Amino acid sequence: MKKISTTPFQGQKPGTSGLRKTVSIFTQAHYLENFVQAIFDSVPALKDGVIILGGDGRYYNDIAIQTILRMAAANGAARVMVGKNGILSTPAISALIRKHKAAGGIILSASHNPGGINGDFGIKFNSANGGPAAEIITDKIYARTQNITQYFSLDTLPIDLTKCGFSNMSSMDIEIIDSTAHYSEMMEGLFDFDAISGLFNAGLSLCFDAMHAVTGPYALDIFARLGASKDSLINAVPLPDFGGGHPDPNPVYAAELFTRMFAPNGPDFGAASDGDGDRNIVLGRDIYVSPSDSIAVLAANAHLVPAYKDGLKGLARSMPTSRALDKVAEKLAIPCYETPTGWKFFGNLLDAGRITLCGEESAGASSNHIREKDGLWAVLMWLNIMAAREQSVSRILQDHWQTYGRHYYSRHDYEAVETQKAKTVMQKLESLLPALPEQIFGTETVLSADNFAYTDPIDKSVSKNQGLRVIFKSGSRFVMRLSGTGTVGATLRLYLERYEPASGDLSQDVQAALSGIISAADEITGFKTIIERSAPSTIS
Ligand code: G1P
Ligand code: ZN
Repeated sequence: MKKISTTPFQGQKPGTSGLRKTVSIFTQAHYLENFVQAIFDSVPALKDGVIILGGDGRYYNDIAIQTILRMAAANGAARVMVGKNGILSTPAISALIRKHKAAGGIILSASHNPGGINGDFGIKFNSANGGPAAEIITDKIYARTQNITQYFSLDTLPIDLTKCGFSNMSSMDIEIIDSTAHYSEMMEGLFDFDAISGLFNAGLSLCFDAMHAVTGPYALDIFARLGASKDSLINAVPLPDFGGGHPDPNPVYAAELFTRMFAPNGPDFGAASDGDGDRNIVLGRDIYVSPSDSIAVLAANAHLVPAYKDGLKGLARSMPTSRALDKVAEKLAIPCYETPTGWKFFGNLLDAGRITLCGEESAGASSNHIREKDGLWAVLMWLNIMAAREQSVSRILQDHWQTYGRHYYSRHDYEAVETQKAKTVMQKLESLLPALPEQIFGTETVLSADNFAYTDPIDKSVSKNQGLRVIFKSGSRFVMRLSGTGTVGATLRLYLERYEPASGDLSQDVQAALSGIISAADEITGFKTIIERSAPSTIS
């Protein structure tokens, strides 16, 4: 065992989803090692415990895995289970932690951020429940990175990750496992695979865009089991730089999928996932399902899926996610919790059995089957519901709006903004909040305005500063917050929402329907002048 002296790096504070930085930062000597040692020092159960290890295959994945294996052995872990070739999706790791009662999991991914040598890298720690470590743990890890003086490693040869099987490093056992088998079996247990196969036998055409990211092998295995034709999958081979693209399933970065779905005679069903396989988007022929609507549709129809046939205990969404889900909860007479942005906040509610399904506007949805969002799970939910209802995506969505009304929704992202300017926008809006109620902007009158804080109903922990929200009397609202996952400057997110009752006009253009709220946000905050931008970088 080697004891290596080191000094702290500034800024190793995990964000919304782990530590994310550019590859150039991560590859500095001792940078990864310091963070990994901080995890071992902060989670004593990892010593003598089982750890699940894998990543989305991006640049530096393979090197980081060897580093972590050596450090795990030197820190006394009993056993590490690694995905073949170092590949495991985020939902697959969550499932494996739970199956093997592991002490935790280490996920190497920067999710939807670009990869390659000039892209981003990331590392997330998931706890024994399979979910992202709670803030109390990530705070501890961060504190440790700030006073670290040494880390432990071994002098040993790299492990061959290309073949499944057993080996060892010092006294630690290593098992290289099939990356997809357990995940696919879990999906078979949740869904009616025969009914979904029936859709493909009857001629349903599919286009699944794996964006050259981790879901490729998972989708290949699952869609083969379902009998979908092989050409249903595009960009299915994972690449260290994701083929030069952004593995973020939105209309901008999944343009190839959108073009196919909106072409004459396009496929009946389209979907995509992100870098590490936890996000999803769903499209029908000529129609895109906004992620907030998607979660609501899944909740409203979950009883048609074998795993949820006995009903749902409760629902939860992140605060900026549209309130379409709340309407479903109301009808089902079950609670709907509003949590801060980030999957970690759903963990306690899921563990306590208070909720069955949850989701975020950022293309994340999942259930209590694991403790992460799950891209392919959401795709299979849609397919199972389509099979049970014998209806197209478009028909299901129209029916949903006609029952519950429609929440017009969009997110405008201003990326790589100068950090100080973005902070000024937030400070200015926060200072304006108390005086906003009753003020009129265009046709909207402010009802309430606040800085969202959350008290976890289970452990009573309080999370403050989770986004500034301005709610109008019409029920419309906008929310502003700064991203916790970006790596260049600051990303300012503006979330916009307007409710149209079922009796109203349900087929408006989304941006046009939101124009009044967009102007009100502009007028109230003056943010575009402050950040010197005239238009968003991305609209989703
Ligand atoms: C973004 C999303 C958030 C999601 C996170 C990790 O975080 O907005 O919903 O949980 O990525 O995938 P943000 O960059 O907004 O902090
Ligand atoms: Zn992701």
